[in-house]
Amino acid sequence: MDQIRIFAPASISNVGPGFDLMGFALEKPGDVISLKKNNLKSIRIYNKSDMPIPVDPEKNVAAVAIHAFLKEFHLEQGIDLFFEQKIKPGSGIGSSAASACAAVFGANELMETMLPLAQLIPAALKGEFIASGSIHADNIAPSMLGGLILVRSYEPLDIIQIPIPESLYYVVVHPDIVIKTAESRKIIAEQLSLKKALEQCGNIAGLVTGFTTSDYELIGRSLKDVIAEPVRAPFIPGYLELKHKIEQTGALGASISGSGPSVFALCDDMETAVKVSELMQFFFERINIECETYLSKISPLGARVIHQ
Ligand code: HSE
Repeated sequence: MDQIRIFAPASISNVGPGFDLMGFALEKPGDVISLKKNNLKSIRIYNKSDMPIPVDPEKNVAAVAIHAFLKEFHLEQGIDLFFEQKIKPGSGIGSSAASACAAVFGANELMETMLPLAQLIPAALKGEFIASGSIHADNIAPSMLGGLILVRSYEPLDIIQIPIPESLYYVVVHPDIVIKTAESRKIIAEQLSLKKALEQCGNIAGLVTGFTTSDYELIGRSLKDVIAEPVRAPFIPGYLELKHKIEQTGALGASISGSGPSVFALCDDMETAVKVSELMQFFFERINIECETYLSKISPLGARVIHQ
């Protein structure tokens, strides 16, 4: 095989209280990257998407991830990467994770190394590190594996699939502003009071229990974040007002997607999800910020081969 085309989905990370620990895969958007073998033993980037991305292999998330993959498994292969579709960087829906996952997943397929997907995650994380300045798997794991994910531990890496309740819908709005994850992580406090730690632990446990038992009311009650949301909210215009309105519309709850600016809501029926989506759209249009909304059930699918 000389060439392959891969889709890797966007993802919502943190999911309220699960800072760096929880994420889920979206149905769309996603990155589409074609990979082609070359004889030069080098990784070359060709950007055919409409987003600006670095073409220097040392600065490109996908190239760094492939380089880590080749090194980790003692492989030698030159690969050309053609970016065909790119999630907007700085959107808060896992743009860099999707690139890293598509690249490493694609290299594994192209070279027929047949490694299990979980073994590809450390290399993808090295790519993500270039963009965010930190190792966090709450976008990488869902973008690679699909579904709803808990990163139970980083050392060693322990990734758990959480059951997805049957009538759970997400709505995510991406307002057209950029927040760099690396910058947005610098404002998170290094230390946490015992009171806040307990609050966050209680809500993560409640959220996992809610998902596992399809207790929608418990999911809503647990969608609370005392670590990231309070310090990141001011960077999203109108965030607290929007969140209040989303809750009034009947959503289970709402929070910031990743490091923002995207905002997501969870709903237990399609009708409410549609209303929330219209509300989000109207909210940002009213303050003259263009936006895109996506509504679906959590996607059980992660990175995958697609055909023309
Ligand atoms: N958990 C990460 C953060 C996700 O909140 O910084 C970044 O997309």
